[in-house]
Order: sequence, then C-alpha cells, then structure tokens
Amino acid sequence: MAELIDPTVRLRASFLAAVREFAEDRDYPTPWFVHDIEPPALTDPAAFAGYVARLLGERDEANRRAEWFVPMTTLWWAEADRMLGRVAVRHRLTAALEKEGGHIGYDVRPSARRRGHATAMLAAALPIARSLGIAQALLTCSETNTASRRVIEANGGRFIDAVGTKRRYWVPTS
Ligand SMILES: CC(C)(COP(=O)(O)OP(=O)(O)OC[C@H]1O[C@@H](n2cnc3c(N)ncnc32)[C@H](O)[C@@H]1OP(=O)(O)O)[C@@H](O)C(=O)NCCC(=O)NCCS
Repeated sequence: MAELIDPTVRLRASFLAAVREFAEDRDYPTPWFVHDIEPPALTDPAAFAGYVARLLGERDEANRRAEWFVPMTTLWWAEADRMLGRVAVRHRLTAALEKEGGHIGYDVRPSARRRGHATAMLAAALPIARSLGIAQALLTCSETNTASRRVIEANGGRFIDAVGTKRRYWVPTS
C-alpha cells in the first residue's frame, strides 16, 4: 500500500526515473519541483543526498531561501521502493500563493496516474496540514485540469472562485 514518506536517498533510482517521466510528459506542463532540482543531483549520488537534505531542511523557518519562500513540507508517495508522487504542504500563504499554488501542491508520475493515487495522497496530506495549524487548506488548479479538480472535490473541496485561469477551493483538513 502506498504511503507518504519523508524524501530519502533510498528511493534515488525510482525518484530519478520518475523525474525523467515528468520531463517527457506531454499531457501536463513539467512540474515546478522538477525544475527546482539542482542538475548535479540528477547524476551524482552525493549531490542527490544534498538535495534530499535540502528538501527536509525547507520545513524550517531558518532555511528559507528567499523572502518570498515559505517553509514547506515535501513528502513522497511511495509503495515499497517505488516513488509514485510527491506532495508539498506550504506552511502559510503569501499573496502570490493565495492567487496560485495555495497550501498544497501534488504531482503523480505519469506511469502511476489514473489509479487514485493523487486522491489518496491529498487525503493523506490533509492531516499533515492540520498538524501545521492549517484548519482549511487553500487548493488551486487550472480550469483545464479536470483530474486535479476531481482530486480536490473528492477531498471535500469547497469552490471559492475562479481567478484568471485558476479555480480556488477551501479543503477542510479534518
Ligand atoms: C493531476 C494528477 C495529480 C492526477 O493524478 P492521478 O493519480 O492520476 O489522479 P487520480 O487517479 O486520483 O484521479 C482523480 C480523478 O481524475 C480523473 N482523471 C485522472 N486523469 C484524468 C485525465 N487526464 N482526464 C480526465 N480525468 C482524469 C480520474 O478518473 C479520477 O476521477 P474520479 O475521482 O471521478 O474517478 C496527475 O495527472 C498529475 O500529476 N498531473 C501533473 C501535475 C498536476 O497537474 N498537478 C496538480 C496541480 S494543481
């Protein structure tokens, strides 16, 4: 059974295979997190360990990389040694995240899609948001992203509005 786990070097091979799938995916734009990986981490195990350490460190206020960057808990959705997806819970909103991005972002690798993983992964992430003091999580998705819209609505998302090309929802965390 798949579960949320902390990013780990143990899943390096599977994570890198997933990144290649995301980069080759023609159905969706390449997710932000793929662009956010330091290029050496894609080939060098020591650099990959540094990347994983950075992800874990980003949960702390002290490690904010810039004024605009809020602390963020990144978790991987994994089954045994296979990395299936990732989710990021941003600990608070900024004006930019209120418009686009919200509290929680998620991605499922192309070869694992349409099996309920995103729906289950968001359900598993909501208690984590709750533990961070988020009573209701803001979720956003593109008007055209039917799958993400269904994921949000299946998790109790209440439609707020559509701003530009984005739909916004409040999702209760308990
Ligand atoms: C959006 C995404 C996370 C969905 O992941 P997933 O694991 O395939 O989602 P699920 O299997 O939980 O499916 C959720 C629902 O969407 C539907 N769905 C999935 N892919 C779909 C598609 N391409 N077109 C239409 N509906 C789709 C499923 O049938 C399911 O509907 P149901 O609940 O009525 O049965 C995944 O496609 C992805 O990572 N896309 C790229 C990144 C992205 O868009 N992230 C979200 C940003 S807001």
